[in-house]
Amino acid sequence: MARDDSGRMERLSSIMRRRGIVAPAFETYGGVAGLVDYGPLGASIRRRVIDAWIEYWSSSGDILEIESPTITPEEVLVASGHVGEFNDLMTTCKSCESVFRADHLLEGSVDEIDGLSADQISSSLEKEGISCPGCGGDDWSECVPMNLMFKTSVGAMSRGRTAYLRPETAQGMFMQYPMLYRHFRQKLPFGGIQTGKGYRNEISPRQGMIRLREFTMAELEYFFDPEEAPIGKDGDWSTIIQMIPSSTGRMEQMSVSEALDKGLILHPTVAWFIARTLELVVSLGVDSSRLRFRQHGQDEMAHYASDCWDCELHGEHGWIECVGIANRTCHDLEQHAIHTGKSDFRAWRAFKESKTVKIDKWFPVQSSIGPAFKGLASAVSEAIGGLDEIPESLPFTVTLNDGTEISVEEGMAERRTEDRVVTGEWFTPHVVEPAFGIDRIIWHILDHAYEESEKEGDRYSVLRLPQRTAPFDAVVLPLFDKDGMGEMAKTIAGILSKARGLKIQYDNSKSIGRRYARADEAGIPWAITVDHQSLEDDSVTLRRRDDGKQVRCSKDDLQSMLLSHGSDMVF
Ligand code: GLY
Repeated sequence: MARDDSGRMERLSSIMRRRGIVAPAFETYGGVAGLVDYGPLGASIRRRVIDAWIEYWSSSGDILEIESPTITPEEVLVASGHVGEFNDLMTTCKSCESVFRADHLLEGSVDEIDGLSADQISSSLEKEGISCPGCGGDDWSECVPMNLMFKTSVGAMSRGRTAYLRPETAQGMFMQYPMLYRHFRQKLPFGGIQTGKGYRNEISPRQGMIRLREFTMAELEYFFDPEEAPIGKDGDWSTIIQMIPSSTGRMEQMSVSEALDKGLILHPTVAWFIARTLELVVSLGVDSSRLRFRQHGQDEMAHYASDCWDCELHGEHGWIECVGIANRTCHDLEQHAIHTGKSDFRAWRAFKESKTVKIDKWFPVQSSIGPAFKGLASAVSEAIGGLDEIPESLPFTVTLNDGTEISVEEGMAERRTEDRVVTGEWFTPHVVEPAFGIDRIIWHILDHAYEESEKEGDRYSVLRLPQRTAPFDAVVLPLFDKDGMGEMAKTIAGILSKARGLKIQYDNSKSIGRRYARADEAGIPWAITVDHQSLEDDSVTLRRRDDGKQVRCSKDDLQSMLLSHGSDMVF
């Protein structure tokens, strides 16, 4: 019989709500589009996904976690380009005044939407006769850009300083680059990671957990010297990936090293992070056959990127971008250096062999400087010798350390070249950024884990989550809550809960069959049942979610069995 998947998404969403995984937020007040609540099971899954993400990257040894504020002063986001460029085009239905993201209205009617200008979108809306999803009208206002950041003010009234809720955690790593550089003893490459909330005031959010206004990001900024050999000290370059390069627009399958050799992936560090991303998301529970990497076309790329690959996952919403792996080059650090005028955003590259170079320089003529400036003479001499930009001719002005400006006149300095031994140079590091949308990944982990079957004429639902992202490792159940079985089950649950890394639930409500079904639906991989025999010999039954098989074992073996994810258990 053909599988009837109709309504699957609604049923999965209903389980998520009913079981306390994810639900729309503030529903009792009518809800707010793009905001969700993680309930007790959802928050546990989310915590485990984040912890696994942090552990994965931290274990590489040259990547460390940082934490920075979500409120970001305007100047930072002017420098990063977000104030100027972080826009989507919006249009308003003139009949009902609903506002929409203009390019989304064209989906399904126009093939190539990325890169269309505001005028092109406006004329396509008219040409295609696109009607308003709200009222059916087809009279649209002109398309105009809307900045996606939530604006706020730090401090009171007119003295308030304009700021935004961060649109990405990445700027925190760029702000902390000087601190990371010092921490890593001025040696590239190294990375900073951060997980936390990001905010985007989406014009018309839809698709549940896919497009949120407040969402969890997990980002890694990997700083490196573009002239050094690429990373790849560990990890496997032979990883096979499904990919759509922008040059062919077709799905291809090959190893990352082959994609690199063929010039499809442009940078080895990007290739390395593509392979690592695949390994990580599959370990979290993503089905590898429903995962592909798609390269952005030039007109789709974010303002900061020179190359970008999306890791897209397939599920009930079609193919969805869940991770973006972007080569941000030196864009951000360079912009912060320019906008702050500070030299903190660079790194030192030591030459393999020192070089002797001729330096063009002005030298103070002490016989004129001394009498002319007296007590200030040595400060003036230092300022002349330290000029970064060499004036063509005299007179010129120098600025002393205290800000005093001094005019250096004819006869006070002479221009000569000097031999200097140079051991290295300053440069702005490049950055590759894998940026993960945690909520989207969680949705796909749940979607890929969700399985429906028929059991005694009823639909039976199981979430086949891997233990590492399941909300609980095990549920402990007394067969009946009498004769001491409840107490014994509670004691076992209490002891197991104390083991580092284990999350245990206790459930004594309703029949044992109902409790197994509830645990299956919640994705809990193990059920431990305390029965009459347990009271006699301290044994329990252990049931495996994925096939329903049971074995009897000693209660004393449970902890090591759960910590090894059942690998030492024979069914
Ligand atoms: N930092 C990546 C992004 O904002 O999507």
